[in-house]
Amino acid sequence: MRRLPMRESVIRRTTIRCAREGAVNLSQGFPDDDTSPEMKQFAREAIEESCHQYTDPWGAPALRRAIARKLARFNGLSVDPDRQIVVTCGATEGMMIAMEALVERGAALLTFAPMYENYVLQSIAAGLELRVLELREPDFSFTRAELERMWTPRLQAVLLSNPCNPTGKVFTREELQTLVDFACAHDLLVFADETYEYLVWEPHRHLSIATLPGAAERTVTVTSTGKTYSVTGWRVGYVVADEPLTNELRKMHDFHTVTAPHPFQIAIARAMDELPESYYARQRDSFAERKRILTTALAAAGLTYCDPGGAYFLWCGYDALAAEDDDLFAERLLTEAKVAGVAGSVFYPRTAQNPRRLRFTFSKTRPTIEEAARRLLALRR
Ligand SMILES: Cc1ncc(COP(=O)(O)O)c(C=O)c1O
Repeated sequence: MRRLPMRESVIRRTTIRCAREGAVNLSQGFPDDDTSPEMKQFAREAIEESCHQYTDPWGAPALRRAIARKLARFNGLSVDPDRQIVVTCGATEGMMIAMEALVERGAALLTFAPMYENYVLQSIAAGLELRVLELREPDFSFTRAELERMWTPRLQAVLLSNPCNPTGKVFTREELQTLVDFACAHDLLVFADETYEYLVWEPHRHLSIATLPGAAERTVTVTSTGKTYSVTGWRVGYVVADEPLTNELRKMHDFHTVTAPHPFQIAIARAMDELPESYYARQRDSFAERKRILTTALAAAGLTYCDPGGAYFLWCGYDALAAEDDDLFAERLLTEAKVAGVAGSVFYPRTAQNPRRLRFTFSKTRPTIEEAARRLLALRR
């Protein structure tokens, strides 16, 4: 039997353990409140319509057109909905098919740590060598010289999560252009995970890499709709790329999942076309408030954190509370304080030196966050 060095997702396993331990779950990044009444209504109406069979494997035409309009409006990207979009089962499938379809097995993919846990496992599944540039607090920036040091003749693509899970870093135009220039110099693809594109706090701004000079023909933008509309269970995401790249992505997608759930595609198309700007602003304000509550509680409990520019995670230090490695501290937090975060080491492919960090999400409701805050304060006492 073939055995890949894969492991279960630590984050998803923690969510299951939370339920067993009666712990407050600040580990997995999904909202624990309901989606909005508008989203439910779109879904109900889509289910009433006759859209219960396979749709076009590239994505329901109504959704691809809505995505193209949204890309023009929000991202400043002009895209042909028939030639440059594939609707996928979430950003998870989007990134997976990008790795499998566009990078040769045995070739290298460069990304940055701390990183979203899935990239490590997805690159193993795709048979790629993952090269990792570790970024440093507090600004998590990088230089062209650092990128050049990571280059090998086997390198075929670079992957950036922006806004970044787990640090909340929102990359600047200069940083993004540095990455694009590096990619152009070495003829690399750029995989841009923009799952949290709508969750960006002032004064930061979300900038899609694909809009930068030199980027369009080599960038594969991978996006989820689950976070933006609080519907992570609907499993609708999409990938945007130039036509030759999209043709390869489509072949891989077709044989993985054929289509994302058809009625939910129709509902997401309605959301993109019909929800006003105030919907997104309300969402951002609501998460900003949750961030405020959690950061206040963490500071009172003696933890430090990097102020995020986007996404809904806090990258935290705990030096004032404990001297142990982060996996042990996260375990103690879960079993003793009954609060679950994620050990920072989960966001590195290998941990020669333990980062001694925790990631907490503030995607949960105010009562959940307040309960976590009470438990963290009790831990300090
Ligand atoms: C950076 C990042 N990319 C992708 C995903 C997966 O998104 P989806 O649920 O659309 O597959 C997540 C989910 O947490 C994420 O944080």
